[in-house]
Amino acid sequence: MRYVLLSDVHANLPALDAVLRDVAERAPGAAVYHLGDLVGYSPWPNEVVDRIRSGGIAGVAGNYDSTVALGYKHCGCRSENPAQEALAHISFAWTCARTSEASKAFLGGLPFRLDLRPLGGHVAGPTVTLVHATPVNNLVYVTEDRPDAFLARLAVQAGLKSGDVLCFGHTHKPWHRVVDGVHFINTGSVGRPKDGDPRAGYVLLELDDAGASVTFVRVEYDVETAVQEVAQSGLPAEFAAFLRSGGAPVPEHPGAPA
Ligand SMILES: [Fe+2]
Repeated sequence: MRYVLLSDVHANLPALDAVLRDVAERAPGAAVYHLGDLVGYSPWPNEVVDRIRSGGIAGVAGNYDSTVALGYKHCGCRSENPAQEALAHISFAWTCARTSEASKAFLGGLPFRLDLRPLGGHVAGPTVTLVHATPVNNLVYVTEDRPDAFLARLAVQAGLKSGDVLCFGHTHKPWHRVVDGVHFINTGSVGRPKDGDPRAGYVLLELDDAGASVTFVRVEYDVETAVQEVAQSGLPAEFAAFLRSGGAPVPEHPGAPA
């Protein structure tokens, strides 16, 4: 079974469209899922929701999706300093004001987690679990440097066993590790990468009787169009610069907005 995993589109329509074109060429027939944070930071929240809906792409709720849907006081993003916190508030207010009621209803209806059984089987066979950040909390940043014990606890929380796969995003940096036989896959970000590579990122995951194989894909897209639209939208100029640079290099566990 072949899956395409998209996360953290963050209202970046040119990036999403480039990824969907790439998927159609590279992985026709694959099952496509998203891992949340469809909106926030870029100016196309409704268009991105429409693409996901019309494409029949199932997925889970990110912190941004559920907070926009419910009109919560904050997106749940952590900030390193007051300046970042102010920018996070601007993005959240902008997105809440411009996301349609229909889009909010869609975002509010997303499940917290999805479980897939790629090899079939009702009680046996590996499980692929999709969440935005962790199986129990959408605000925790699961970075690549987390100790094995931390990841093992996530597997227990999710009820996963050796051979299973836990997929998540939220940090906007892709990575893959195996701990106690459980695969941990951070899908990176389609629309707001933070690893210094501005290209849109997604994951191809294949499972067969031999186990799981993971391919990280990066796709060029029209960053300058996104940058110009951000500039004209009234969103902060910092968000445009962020797209151009692929996110400023930051230390691990920085708590930067996501
Ligand atoms: Fe995010």
